[in-house]
This record gives sequence, structure tokens and C-alpha cells, in this order.
Amino acid sequence: MIPKETIQNIIETARVEEVIGDFVSIKKRGVNFVGLCPFHNEKTPSFVVSPAKGIYKCFGCGKAGNAINFVMEHEHFSYPEALKYLAKKYAIEIEEEEQTPEQIKALNEQESLFSVTEFARKYFSENLFNKEEGKAIGLSYLKERDYNEDLIKKFELGYCIDKWEDFTGHALKNGYNLSYLVKTGLTISKDGKHYDRFRGRVMFPIHSLSGRIIGFGGRILSPEKSKAKYVNSPESDIYHKSKVLYGIYFAKTAIIKNDNCYLVEGYTDVMSMNKAGIENVVASSGTSLTNDQIRLIKRYTPNITILYDGDEAGVKASFRGIDMILEHGMNVKIVLFPDGEDPDSYVRNHRTSEVEDFITKSAKNFISFKTNLLYKESENDPIKKAGLIKEIVNTISLVPDGIFRNVYIKECSSIMDIPEQTLMNELNKKLRKKIWDKNKFEAREEIPEPTKFVSEEQIKIDVTDSEAQEKEIIRLLLMYGNDEIVFEQEDERKRIEKIPVKVAGFIVSDIIRDEIEFENKIHQIIFNEFSEGVDNENIPDEKHFINHPDENILKFTIDILSSPWELSENWKKKRIIVGTEKERLKISVTSSVLAFKAKKVDKMIIDNQEEIKKTESNEDRLILIQKHVTLKKVSREINEQLSRIITR
Ligand code: CTP
Ligand code: MN
Repeated sequence: MIPKETIQNIIETARVEEVIGDFVSIKKRGVNFVGLCPFHNEKTPSFVVSPAKGIYKCFGCGKAGNAINFVMEHEHFSYPEALKYLAKKYAIEIEEEEQTPEQIKALNEQESLFSVTEFARKYFSENLFNKEEGKAIGLSYLKERDYNEDLIKKFELGYCIDKWEDFTGHALKNGYNLSYLVKTGLTISKDGKHYDRFRGRVMFPIHSLSGRIIGFGGRILSPEKSKAKYVNSPESDIYHKSKVLYGIYFAKTAIIKNDNCYLVEGYTDVMSMNKAGIENVVASSGTSLTNDQIRLIKRYTPNITILYDGDEAGVKASFRGIDMILEHGMNVKIVLFPDGEDPDSYVRNHRTSEVEDFITKSAKNFISFKTNLLYKESENDPIKKAGLIKEIVNTISLVPDGIFRNVYIKECSSIMDIPEQTLMNELNKKLRKKIWDKNKFEAREEIPEPTKFVSEEQIKIDVTDSEAQEKEIIRLLLMYGNDEIVFEQEDERKRIEKIPVKVAGFIVSDIIRDEIEFENKIHQIIFNEFSEGVDNENIPDEKHFINHPDENILKFTIDILSSPWELSENWKKKRIIVGTEKERLKISVTSSVLAFKAKKVDKMIIDNQEEIKKTESNEDRLILIQKHVTLKKVSREINEQLSRIITR
């Protein structure tokens, strides 16, 4: 754990232009620096670094962030890794919060376990290559599978002699402690006796990210039905099944290079793909992916291609798990191998070029793959079809990026021959419900932006969409929250009194008073932080949001601060000549709040009209009509105030 103060110190010390300058050649231009974006290919520089704000933004690919995000993004560091890197660069000492004796003991324990697994790996390898039994049984089996020596050595395969305690005895003789042999699972201890877990099996070491051995899988060679084909190491202090992927150590660089990760089922699939020269591949080892494993892949690429053997039942069973990957904002493609084939057998039966060809040609994006598969089954069954729409829309609603959601809606609409609008309506319903369900902002991570879910055509006709107005409020808060605007008031004796008010104070109190909520979750979170700040007389500034722990907020802030400010439509229509925004801040602020309210009231009017249409009781209808009249009046008042301000 890096202490909070140290993190603050790092944030304050790191100069964004210096940090980025270590990786990208940037040149001073005006107050900023510009260079070629390291995150996408470009010939003319659109990558801008602003020392004043402490941020970077690429106007080509949209990547943006602060110094910490940059090293995370560029070096594929985790947050703590990035902090440590920067601390080192600026010679800031990190006194990690002191370790307790238990923690130190745990660390030593882990090292002891690693020394056992490393010892075992060497021993098993020696068995495979140098002992009669290993060569005759293990090595010949692997050769039969067309695994050459280079491949076997790369993956550090081995063999465990088929005797009760060949390995355990050897390890004990070499001074290894029985308790560690048992904890790593290499030795099984029962009723005072101990014996080797992996007797007579070919050994597949499982590597950590940094290449250390954390566990083993052992494959049996005899076709005995009574024994499991694979036996695996149990969970231990160094082996957490749900957090690793087989092959990740060998695959990570290739994953970055290809910006894609192939996901297969088993140890042998990983090896065979490697044999065919395809190295960006990892195995889930027969189980469905966990969130930790998905995050692990996401450190290197947002793209996963899942390779399945041709069994539709198995594919369908995995649909839920794939939804999870989508929720992480990753793109999922599916390759289905022909019946009875898996990557391993396909590689064995085809030339390398054919393998690559097959994979690229048959990869389908998950959502259209799923739609196609389920649609086939429901074609003549209207009830199934209705269920299918819900199912597919549910999956699409998990995709955090609104633009992708729209693309998927289009695709599915054409596959199922259902109007886009029908799917879109279903999707909007789903998204709104989700937002309301977790309205209390506990889940700040990966919030779909509720306003992006309408298609472009819809935005034009949707008079109740308040995205633009909301955003304007947030922009004013971010840029001028701490500035003062002065209101004038007559006291009892008709004297003019000047009352200075902070912009944040004015906006927050006005919006809270009318109990207005923001549609866009990110807007609401930022607003809430300002609202708290006003209460505590500690209004946050833009720096706070640029360095916000929530990446969505940080990126949103940077986007707002770096996009050229545009005059509002009202101003343009009325041809008002304006000075700088700061000079007429009061007008900006008051008119923006009113415009926001006007939108909200419009929405209430429309909702109310729907109610009127629906209601069957005359009594209710009368009440609703009264409400309509009141709302109309409020709307008129707001709009009058608005035009008074603007034309004054
Ligand atoms: N697996 C396991 N225990 C089993 C069977 C399978 O742990 N009893 C895991 C292994 O990680 C295996 C993966 O599931 O690699 C996929 O299983 P399978 O396709 O049956 O094995 P392959 O790896 O394809 O092995 P082989 O090609 O040698 O049959
Ligand atoms: Mn197989």
C-alpha cells in the first residue's frame, strides 16, 4: 500500500511534459507541446500536452489523461506500478506502509513455495529428457503429438516418474521441507504417509506473469477411464486459479503487438498454436473466465478472440461468461472450429498459413454470432423470438460504449429482420432501468453513459434530451466553480446591496432546490462532488477532477476542458456579441441553469401527456390536465426569464 500523502506528492511533482518526453518526442508550440501520438499511427502530430493543466490529449484517437494515466497506458502498468515508476523518476521515496511480522512471514513463505516449484520443474524436465522412463513414455508421447524439442523446452514441460514417492523423496533428500511440498500440492500427505500427486504424468508448468512457476497440470498418458485426464495443482499461496491464465507469460508481448488475445481451452491448444507461430494465445484451462482473468488480458489489449471446438451446446453454455467480458468494455470475437476439431487438431492437420487464414476468415463478433445462432432456432417460433430480442438487447446493453451499442443494434436488426427502432427502444428501456436500479452511485466503475444510447436520428427528435444542457452546467462548474458572480439586491431602504456568490454555490443551490437530477451518471457524480464541496466550503477545482481516481471522470473532465467552447444556440440566434466568457460569467451561469430547467420541465410535460393518454379515470385525467397547465406556466416563465437575461 502506497500512503495517500505519497501519492499526492507524486501527482504534484510529476511534470506531464517531462514524463511523456521520456517516451515521445514533443515540441513546444505556444503554451503546449505537440508530437506524434504514441497510441495510434499518424503522420501529422495531433498529440497535445498541456503543462499548465497537467494533461495530454490526442485529437486523432481521443486518448487522454494525466501523467499517471500516460505511463499506465503506454507501459501497460497498473496504477501502483505507474506510481512507483514516477516515484523513481522523481526520486520520491515510497515508504510502503510498514509490513507486519505476519506479512513478512507470508512473503518468506511464498518464496519458499516458489523455490519448491522451481526445483520440481527442473527435476521433471530432467526426467523427461534424461531418464529412461521419461524418454520412453513422456518424450515419445509428446513427439507423437508433433511437439518438437524447442516447443517442449519453451513451455518447460517435464515428466513425473511413475513411483509413489520418487519426486517427494528426491526433494526431501535435497533439504526441502515436507510442509512446503504439501502446500504446493506436489506431495499428498495422508494418514502419516506421503506420495507424489502427479505420478506417471507429463507435466505442464503454469507460469506467473513474470515467468515463475506457480503450479502444474499433469496429463495422464495411459487411456485409463478411471483416472482424470488432467490433474492440477491445488490452490496455494502462490497459485490462485481464478487469477492466472495458462500461457500469459509467453503471450503478453505478442498480445500487445497484435492488439488481440486468442483464448483457447487447454494447455495443448496453447502449445499447438505456438507451434503454428501464433503466440498471442492463452488458455482458460477448461473453466469459464473470471473477472480477474479478464482484467489480466485487458492490461494488454481490449480485444479477445475465443476459439471454440465445434460443439454448439458448449458454445451456448459459455454465453453468460462472454457477457462478462463485454461488461469490461472489451470486444469479443468468436471462431468456431469445424465439427470435432479444436485448435490443437486443426494445427496438426493444416499448414500454418491455412490456420491463420481460417481464423481471420471465420472470426465473427460475438453479438452477431450469438444472434445468428439463437435466431436459427427461433425462426418459426414467435414466442422464442420475443425472448430472443430481450436476450440480445440485454447483451448489447452490457457494452459500455454507446457507439458500439448502436453498431450492434444495426447488425442485429438486419440479422433478425426487426426494425432498428424496436431494438433501440428496448435497449433504452433496459439502460434506463439499469441506471435507476443503481441510482445511488455506489458503482462508479464502467457506467454506461445513459445519454449516448439514442441513435443520431433520435437525438434530433428527442426534445427531452438534456445532455447538452447538463454538460454545459458541468462545464461551468469545472471551469468557474470557484469564481464569484455578483448579484444585486435592494434592501428595505431601497439601497442596492451587492452580494457575491461563488458560481458553484449558485448552481448547486438552484438545482438542488428544484430537486433536479442529471440523466448522465458522470454529470451527476461530478455535480454531487461540487455539492459536497459547497456544503463543506471546500469547492473542488479542475485539478481535483483531472486527477480523479475514477478514470471515467478524469477522461470526461479532460474532454470538456480541452474541447473548444462553443456559443450556445440561443446566443447565435440572437446575434449577441459577447466578450470573453469570464466577463459575462453571470449571464452564462444563470442562463445555463434556466436552460437546463426548461428542458426538464419539457420532459415533465411530455411524460404528463403520456399519462393523460393512458389514464382511464376521468378524475385522474382532470388532475393531470391541471398539472399540465401548471407545467406549461412554469415553462413559459422559465423561457421568459431566459430571454430577458440573454437580451438584456
Ligand atoms: N482439464 C482439467 N482436468 C480434466 C480435463 C481438462 O483440468 N480432467 C483442463 C485442462 O487445463 C485442459 C483443458 O481443461 O487443458 C481442456 O481440456 P481438454 O480439451 O480435454 O484437454 P486438452 O488440453 O485438449 O488435452 P489433450 O489435447 O491432450 O486431450
Ligand atoms: Mn485437445
